Amino acid sequence: MKRTIIVTSVIIVFFLFPSCKQPASSLEEIIISSLDTALVQYRQMAEYLIDKPGLLPRSYSKKGEFITCNSDWWVSGFFPGSLWYLYEYSNDDELKQLAEEFTRRVEDQQYTTNNHDVGFMIYCSFGNGFRLTQNSRYKEVILTAANSLATRFRPATGAIRSWDWGTWQYPVIVDNMMNLELLFFASRDSGHERLGEIARSHADATLANHFRPDGSSFHVVSYDTITGVVLSQQTRQGYSDSSAWARGQAWGLYGYAMSYRETKDQKYLEHAIKIADFIIHHPNLPKDKIPYWDFNDSDIPNTYRDVSAGAIICAALLELSQLADAVKGAEYLKVAETQLESLSSDTYRAKTGTNGNFLLMHSVGDKPGNSEVDVPLTYADYYYIEAMMRYKKLKGF
Ligand code: GLY
Repeated sequence: MKRTIIVTSVIIVFFLFPSCKQPASSLEEIIISSLDTALVQYRQMAEYLIDKPGLLPRSYSKKGEFITCNSDWWVSGFFPGSLWYLYEYSNDDELKQLAEEFTRRVEDQQYTTNNHDVGFMIYCSFGNGFRLTQNSRYKEVILTAANSLATRFRPATGAIRSWDWGTWQYPVIVDNMMNLELLFFASRDSGHERLGEIARSHADATLANHFRPDGSSFHVVSYDTITGVVLSQQTRQGYSDSSAWARGQAWGLYGYAMSYRETKDQKYLEHAIKIADFIIHHPNLPKDKIPYWDFNDSDIPNTYRDVSAGAIICAALLELSQLADAVKGAEYLKVAETQLESLSSDTYRAKTGTNGNFLLMHSVGDKPGNSEVDVPLTYADYYYIEAMMRYKKLKGF
């Protein structure tokens, strides 16, 4: 009798409230499944590379070639960084050993002074390694790298120089906002206030000179080295000088949300919100919230998405959702959830054993240069994994 009542109640509840039979959140299940699959794919990728000294993953060509790089290419730190996140997720000692091995492969970049990418290379690898292990050797590498990056700062411009090539006098790209995290960390941890001052100065100069009134940004701003006057505002990887290159908008969004987290300076929060609102309310942002490679490509919708930009924006919106007020926060979280769902779908997420073991398909590295168009990219995976880990932490599952 008792059993009949229970069974009847369950049936009634099932039909009246079908959602009660659903998991707490299907997105949570999707993310766990995606992280579990990432463990398989990244172990396989590491296995392939382990006996190839010095090499790190970069992409996978349409012809099926696994493309690698040495430590001096700007993406070198993303694979070790992803392994650290996957170790954090799994607590598996084998993942830790792999993360340590591939982090070692990037170590020589701590001395890099000929470009700004030392922040990407060292903070994603050694930064995550230190966060999870507190290994003091890792901290030394991070501090050396921060001092290397600081050599590229010129007070006249108030900014860190990005590139030492090209025809520009003193080129600074919006991507460079990402390298400030290395300086903020080193300043806080070592007490070297100058490193933090350089980071703030760079963020202020970028805010003043890279952004248009609508919150979109130029890619490359070149300064007069002596006077600091802005000489040009252009693009190199975007559709045109006046367009909004999707990954550039992503770097800016992530960079200002992070700068606010590090400094609590209100203007950085307001600026991150302005960039976020430009992105999420843009008429060319598709329903699945994965942007085209440039918001202003005249071929939209018949052009490429840039999944890397989608993943970076997603990770950034998750952070911003916790920093902005409740109404904006909820709006950003909703967009990020749509992005997580989209990225994890068959449209963008590769099946295990395909795609060179990269997780995501369909990123665009450099469309005008016809390089890495519609392929997997190691940094798309890194920010996707970071976004999933951020979401997991935020929701406590
Ligand atoms: N930082 C280089 C790029 O986003 O392509």
